[in-house]
Amino acid sequence: MRTLIFATNNRHKLQEVSEMLKGIVDIRSLAEMGLEGDIPETADTLQGNALQKAQWVYDRTGMDCFADDTGLEVEALGGAPGVYSARYAGEHCSFDDNIDKLLAALDGEINRRADFRTVICLIENGEPRYFEGRVDGVILTERYGKEGFGYDPVFLPDRFAVSFAEMPLEVKNSISHRGRAVQALVEYLSENQKTKR
Ligand code: IMP
Repeated sequence: MRTLIFATNNRHKLQEVSEMLKGIVDIRSLAEMGLEGDIPETADTLQGNALQKAQWVYDRTGMDCFADDTGLEVEALGGAPGVYSARYAGEHCSFDDNIDKLLAALDGEINRRADFRTVICLIENGEPRYFEGRVDGVILTERYGKEGFGYDPVFLPDRFAVSFAEMPLEVKNSISHRGRAVQALVEYLSENQKTKR
């Protein structure tokens, strides 16, 4: 099985993605590789940030690796918070601060359409390659559920009656932005492995 480093310090993401790549790829975390420190995320697109994070790891290890970047895009807010989703309520804010700001921004708003979009950048032998996933839904008026992270308690995916934070991880992974982007990565890696044999 091939080894890939996943460029994230987010333990929830690591758990989600490791679960999906089980038996296909041997995932190593930054901590396992002894890589410490905050990875820069200063680009103004999801693709740019995913590349920046993966490149940071590649420059330090020379090993194949990947990174993801996700944005919550709210229609009534012109696509905000988008690439700034992590810092929506300010530097070093909590997930709860972000949700509070989002609910306040949408107070009284009828159009609550939103999507999550993930871009994964895989760096293989120094070459970047991109994979994308998206899920559409609405922003709820209050929090529901305790699972997941980030904006999960207020995101209701289309065709579901529960928020992301009320779903078992396998169900979220099967429909989520990151789940779909990882699925595209899995398909590529599986194909690639076949042609290498
Ligand atoms: P990142 O840059 O990919 O870490 O994602 C930016 C921000 O989007 C995170 O800090 C979370 O607030 C939010 N986010 C990313 N993925 C999810 C998810 O699966 N559910 C809810 N929020 C998420």
